[in-house]
Amino acid sequence: MLPEFLKNQILLGDVKDWLPEFPDSSVDLIITSPPYADSRAAAYGGVCPEKYVEWFLPISAELKRIIKPTGSFVLNIKERIENGQRHTYVIELILEMKKQGWLWTEEYIWHKKNCFPGKWPNRFRDAWERCLHFTVSKKFEMNQDSVMVPMGNWRHSRLKALSATDQARDNSRLQSGFGKRVANWVGREKAYPTNVLNMPTECGNKGHSATFPVELPTWFIKLFTSEDEVVLDPFVGSGTTAIAAKNLSRQFVGIDLNEEYVRLAKNRLELPEELTVPVPKGPLV
Ligand SMILES: C[S@@+](CC[C@H](N)C(=O)[O-])C[C@H]1O[C@@H](n2cnc3c(N)ncnc32)[C@H](O)[C@@H]1O
Repeated sequence: MLPEFLKNQILLGDVKDWLPEFPDSSVDLIITSPPYADSRAAAYGGVCPEKYVEWFLPISAELKRIIKPTGSFVLNIKERIENGQRHTYVIELILEMKKQGWLWTEEYIWHKKNCFPGKWPNRFRDAWERCLHFTVSKKFEMNQDSVMVPMGNWRHSRLKALSATDQARDNSRLQSGFGKRVANWVGREKAYPTNVLNMPTECGNKGHSATFPVELPTWFIKLFTSEDEVVLDPFVGSGTTAIAAKNLSRQFVGIDLNEEYVRLAKNRLELPEELTVPVPKGPLV
């Protein structure tokens, strides 16, 4: 259980100093967007791509200790371009986290649907980011009905005249084990979403250069937690995850190194500005 003094707090300091204060199995969902390798270094420090995995692994080891067996860890990350190529630190990180015992359960794509065009000599504008979903067990909490979407107009034509195949379970001819019965969707108002999340980037000035839209953590919090459960963002920035958690009546904890961002997050959450929690003892080794 998360001790009361950590609940609904934005903690100032290095994540590596704070995580040892969290008891084992005390957090239901971790969702975060850590500093990407070297990017925005001027704004909040960067980690060089070659050192990124080495920097992150002690953190992911601690996150694994504090997450509940039914919990989820959603990591919003994207590899930067170096010398004209995508760097491979995200792929390397996934492999190393699997060695730590994490299950790489799914990958969601955040499609930034308001991205405007640009011109580069060798690629197009980057309009998506990874949201890697890690768990510690195959049986984790997942409330699929909480994120259902309207069926959409496709149903009017596709479900009007059903073939014999549509009315039976049609198994994949590629032996994938997947199958579908199209007739199941007749008369339904809602369907399950895909793993591509079409959400605009945050355009309003929140006083932080890398905020994600509140819809992003909101979607994952609904999907992977229930009321009163604990949501942690170890790189909380302007507090977006904490706001989403609060709006959904979950407990939140956020950590950030930068005093200005902590103040900003506390303002957005209407928390008192003064430090209410003792500063932790020391860093992870
Ligand atoms: C990509 S931003 C997060 C933005 C956030 N998702 C939001 O919506 O505002 C990453 C944050 O990590 C913080 N940070 C960087 N290194 C840190 C560390 N070692 N411990 C805690 N926070 C850190 C930065 O100050 C920055 O605010």
